[in-house]
Amino acid sequence: MEPNRPRILTGHRPTGPRHLGHLVGTLTTWESLQDSYECFFLIADIHVLTTDFQHPQRIESNTLEVLLDWLASGIDPERSTLVLQSAVPEHTQLATLLGMLVSEARLRRNPTYKEQVHNLNLQPSLGLLSYPVLQAADILLYKGQRVPVGEDQLPHIELAREVARRFNQTYRPVFPEPEALLSTTPRLPGTDNRTMHSSYGNTILLRDTPEETTRKVMGMYTDPSRIHPTDPGHIAGNPLFIYLDLFDDHPERVEDFKTRYQAGKVGDVAVKQHLASVINQRLAPIREKRSQLAGKNDDLMELLFQGSSRARKIARETLVEAMDCMGLRLGASQLPPARIIDER
Ligand code: TRP
Repeated sequence: MEPNRPRILTGHRPTGPRHLGHLVGTLTTWESLQDSYECFFLIADIHVLTTDFQHPQRIESNTLEVLLDWLASGIDPERSTLVLQSAVPEHTQLATLLGMLVSEARLRRNPTYKEQVHNLNLQPSLGLLSYPVLQAADILLYKGQRVPVGEDQLPHIELAREVARRFNQTYRPVFPEPEALLSTTPRLPGTDNRTMHSSYGNTILLRDTPEETTRKVMGMYTDPSRIHPTDPGHIAGNPLFIYLDLFDDHPERVEDFKTRYQAGKVGDVAVKQHLASVINQRLAPIREKRSQLAGKNDDLMELLFQGSSRARKIARETLVEAMDCMGLRLGASQLPPARIIDER
């Protein structure tokens, strides 16, 4: 591992078990960043409440599912720090302070906010409006320099940059301006060709069995204009080939399938069978690891709690720095020192 690695903070909301979209969109990248960066991976459980405060019963089991999937995908608690947002109260404390530097009008213009209010048809709460302020606190608390995320998160990273700038200009330079590390893989379509999303029922989960995976692949959306296997098929925008490009390690084999597909010389069923087999190959080591870890809930929680208390030391130092800047030195002097947190 490189010494003095730049710091990364990124995370997921624990909304359920992870699917192939998470795997190719973020987890594979995160896994590969662990040697060159000092990584903090956050399970953002408080963020779940911004839309789901009426359903508290699923958060705990979803947190475990996410943790299992992360570890199975190669997130390594020896090299990286796992953090549970609600176990480090400094996240919400810093968010309250940073909220002073963000106008309410700015938050209303946030595209993800507008989209959610529109889509979910919900009565927007203060918590939902300030979602990106909490996310900025997540990043800035660890002075994260890079934030590997999908494109949908760019507006939030932009806001975190603005807050960091505003803070540094108003007081003194405390926070680096975090930069997004954008994933290069396009958004993965779900089995029905809409974006793969937990709430659409179109996901292939990392924890699915090979049989479930094959069943889902066999039912996948494909070229709708193709009636008979001998009709010439379309490649562009066809999810089968988007998947094959991502999951088949033999590009020449994929090219061969494409040529035959366009010529009407291979049917959808044959392509799907091949696709199911390459996806199952890719998932085999992940499933193996997942089944070794499954059921060891206490050990998993311990990993998360250990990471969180390591993280909390850093978080506490940054919070004290921010409080000092903002005229709250008296209060900061009365907080238990990071040392004590560590000895808990
Ligand atoms: N908002 C992110 C998502 O929905 C999750 C998240 C919370 C996050 N805090 C973060 C991502 C900090 C990156 C950095 O995917």
